[in-house]
Amino acid sequence: MRDLIDELTAVAGADNVLTSPDVTAGYTADWTRRFQGVARCVVRPRDTGQVAAVIGVCANRGVPVVPQGGNTGLVGGGVPAGDAANAQGVVISLRRLRRLDPVDTLASQVTAGAGVTIAALREHAANAGLEYGVDLASRDSATVGGTIATNAGGILTVRYGHTRAQLLGVEAVLADGSVISRLGGIHSDNSGYELTQLLAGSEGTLGIVTAARLRLHRAEPVSLTVLAGVPDIGAASALLAEVRSLVPAVRAAEYFEAAGLTLVRRHTGLPAPLAADYPAFLLADITGSGDYHERLASLPFLTDASVAVDSQARAALWAYRERHTESISAAGIPHKLDLAFPPARIAAFRADLDEVVTDAGAQAIVFGHIGAGNLHVNVLGPDPDDDAVDEAVFALAAAHGGTISAEHGIGRAKAGALHLSRTPAEIAAMRAIKSGLDPAGLLNPGVLLAPVSS
Ligand code: FAD
Ligand code: MLT
Ligand code: ZN
Repeated sequence: MRDLIDELTAVAGADNVLTSPDVTAGYTADWTRRFQGVARCVVRPRDTGQVAAVIGVCANRGVPVVPQGGNTGLVGGGVPAGDAANAQGVVISLRRLRRLDPVDTLASQVTAGAGVTIAALREHAANAGLEYGVDLASRDSATVGGTIATNAGGILTVRYGHTRAQLLGVEAVLADGSVISRLGGIHSDNSGYELTQLLAGSEGTLGIVTAARLRLHRAEPVSLTVLAGVPDIGAASALLAEVRSLVPAVRAAEYFEAAGLTLVRRHTGLPAPLAADYPAFLLADITGSGDYHERLASLPFLTDASVAVDSQARAALWAYRERHTESISAAGIPHKLDLAFPPARIAAFRADLDEVVTDAGAQAIVFGHIGAGNLHVNVLGPDPDDDAVDEAVFALAAAHGGTISAEHGIGRAKAGALHLSRTPAEIAAMRAIKSGLDPAGLLNPGVLLAPVSS
């Protein structure tokens, strides 16, 4: 009888079934280095038919499958668990699914394969005078499939919403190897359950996305980028509210603090962004024309702000925010916690956070998408395997009415904490959907829904 590797080789070709640990290592450790495991092999199908065949082989043999796109995920959802003595699953890399159809300018839509990067998709749309409504600092590696599976947010959520808001339909392979496809781009379609939206944010646990039909927006130039120093997060929120009331539209609104700026400057060698030192910062992209400049300039905190109008100067301001992730990683292996709050609760959470983190002998670097109420709390200090600080911060967030995942997903990192954001009835409904679509539990086991202890 042929073994698993032989069968997968017959489906995907020998060059696309990787077994050498030197090569598979790049697929079995996550971007943060906090989560790593082992796989029997990594298989790299080139089209939907091969994905279906690979899943068919794994389903017949009862082999677990971990879907992976650009491997930029931050919650351990795209890498297997386990150790060398316990390698059970197969990583299926979707990066070779790079179909990118011509933009449908009549409908402002495009069909893209799961492996197309967000940078490539955005460039393709821009060449047609349109814009894809998701952008994030991992754009050069993060894929269409991965961003759908995590329902990624990013810097444009205040303008266009999360990834799910861009989705008109998906093509996907289910756990039994069957293919579902809704790439027709019909704007109005109420014919039954919305499987596309079910797959958005399902983190590879319900199906493998192979392509998507995506909504595009009219390209919208940024007229002004502002970086202002503020005393604290409450002042940043208040300033953002004032800016919003004066300008046509805010396209992005980001937050960071002095501790993160110090790490960014240490890692990148960038100069100080403003003439004076500040504890916290608001960075905003404004779009639309009008005579709002003078009124904006008179706002408190904006007198010493840095304002950029051309793309080079804008990129220089954005570097202070976008280079946080790599700069924090250069300082250690962070516990990356991704929280969101109702706007009125965010300042109270921030005020209580330092004590919880300091009690754990750790340091918190806080930044995020303040316009969407989303704070990234990166904790440096505790061992990667020590979850105590994660649990303490999640409990604090829940006490302030927050959620434990705003945009990164649940992954392996937070599966045990899902009950803090979802009720028992909601989790039971999720388990019912999971067992209906994947009765053997082969798609990304241990991700999103914790294993049920016997
Ligand atoms: P992977 O990391 O490969 O996988 C992520 C999850 O999706 C896993 O559970 C995996 O199993 C599943 N998956 C992957 N492909 C498929 C598929 N085709 N079908 C089904 N399941 C699949 N995230 C944000 O939301 N906003 C940000 O602003 C942001 N900025 C980032 C900046 C940096 C520098 C980095 C490193 C990460 C950032 N992220 C951000 C996190 C990450 O980029 C996103 O979670 C992204 O959506 C992951 O895409 P990926 O292709 O790398 O997926
Ligand atoms: C970001 O907003 O920069 C990302 O979500 C990445 C991170 O949290 O580090
Ligand atoms: Zn983010």
